Amino acid sequence: MGSQRRFTILFTRDEIEATVKKLAAEIRQDYLGKHPILIGVLKGSFMFLADLIRLLDFPLEVEFVRLSSYGRGTKSSGKIRMVHSLRSKIKGRHVLVIEDIVDTGLTTSFVLDYLGRKKPASLKVCALTDKPSRRQIPVNIDYRGLTVPNKFIVGYGLDWDERFRNLPDIYVVENEG
Ligand code: IMP
Repeated sequence: MGSQRRFTILFTRDEIEATVKKLAAEIRQDYLGKHPILIGVLKGSFMFLADLIRLLDFPLEVEFVRLSSYGRGTKSSGKIRMVHSLRSKIKGRHVLVIEDIVDTGLTTSFVLDYLGRKKPASLKVCALTDKPSRRQIPVNIDYRGLTVPNKFIVGYGLDWDERFRNLPDIYVVENEG
């Protein structure tokens, strides 16, 4: 019935909560009064975005884009496709992209390219987690949460084959044997 998986906790829900609070404080300082549009990159960012915006007590808007890069399993196919594009106008607006993880950087740079062409007033990136060891393309992360080792992680929105997004903590998951 396939191989066993080993889950090792990497970040507890308390560490995640503290990180989201820290990022929200930084974002509040920079965006208060600017009525920004926060754009979540689906699906992985939905939980982070939901927690983050509850800590932001000023007018803002929420949008989503969805891309597909990963096939089944934990290896990227390297190909990126936009499967849900932006539904609102961002020209002249302050835009903050919300990412679950920046891994190779291909997805984030694709999104920044796509959004940048729409001429926002500003365009920045907030990533809950960063896996710099796997970067293939440089990405400037303006608001960075937790640094991840070169391992596959799940939980708090992040999946393995669509599973484990619902875990409240973040785990490293590895095949055993
Ligand atoms: P990229 O390699 O930076 O383009 O990341 C693409 C997407 O792959 C991310 O937005 C995640 O959804 C997913 N991803 C990358 N690394 C992990 C991981 O360790 N666990 C779960 N998903 C990941």
